[in-house]
Amino acid sequence: MVDITTPNFLELLHIISGERHVYYTEMHHAQAIHQHQSHLDRFVGTPRPNVVVQLGGSDPKIMATATRLLEDYGYSEVNINVGCPSANVQHGNFGAVLMKTPDIIADILEEMNKMVSIPVTVKCRIGVDDLDSFDFFHGFVETLMQCDRPPPHLIVHARKCILKGLSPKQNRSIPPLNYQRVYELAKLYPNLPITINGGFTTTEDIRSALDQVDGCMIGRIVMDSPLFLQHIDHGKVYNNRKDDH
Ligand SMILES: Cc1cc2nc3c(=O)[nH]c(=O)nc-3n(C[C@H](O)[C@H](O)[C@H](O)COP(=O)(O)O)c2cc1C
Repeated sequence: MVDITTPNFLELLHIISGERHVYYTEMHHAQAIHQHQSHLDRFVGTPRPNVVVQLGGSDPKIMATATRLLEDYGYSEVNINVGCPSANVQHGNFGAVLMKTPDIIADILEEMNKMVSIPVTVKCRIGVDDLDSFDFFHGFVETLMQCDRPPPHLIVHARKCILKGLSPKQNRSIPPLNYQRVYELAKLYPNLPITINGGFTTTEDIRSALDQVDGCMIGRIVMDSPLFLQHIDHGKVYNNRKDDH
């Protein structure tokens, strides 16, 4: 999460929960990885087996060489962000706008995979603008699955992305979440680990999501209450919407 999962915040999460969870860095533009290649631990965070570096970008060569730099530095996984709606990101032609051209994402993925052996995963939305049907979402995922080395893990923010007229903040609560679309997709791809994201604030809801998919990514709840991780670790039922926890 940009400006949140900084190297220091990632350290805090490790102090709280060790390596029990997978942590995602801020989204970094691939070009920035080149610029900071001599001190990636300070720029991105300490390389650890459970830290995934998230990249944004649309130039397959730059994305691939950035991923190679990350692999050589000791990072163990890279994730491509195709879910960010911010205006700057759109102008840079990366993030969620790329969901409109899945072939380009597939090209980026192929190029990255040619240069590295670490896993390269994708974080997407369930749709974008008027491309908002199960068929679109399925077709999008299928394009990625046709790659020589398909993503070994897909993370889905279960809300479609609206590129015009909403701020990124608004687009994290509008339109409503559609978990069902993710669960339907998971049934079609039983061998593809799928992580659902969006709106999870209680351990009960996380647990019930895990009956249907392989992982549950939580963002703002940990941003606001990093100790939420302890409640997961201790198996406590914790409801952040109630005051009496
Ligand atoms: C301040 C902030 C920064 C974010 N930065 C990123 C980012 O860099 N990459 C990303 O994939 N999602 C980013 N997101 C979106 C979250 O990862 C997540 O998809 C979204 O908040 C929905 O999940 P939640 O309801 O658990 O927070 C950001 C969200 C916030 C609030």
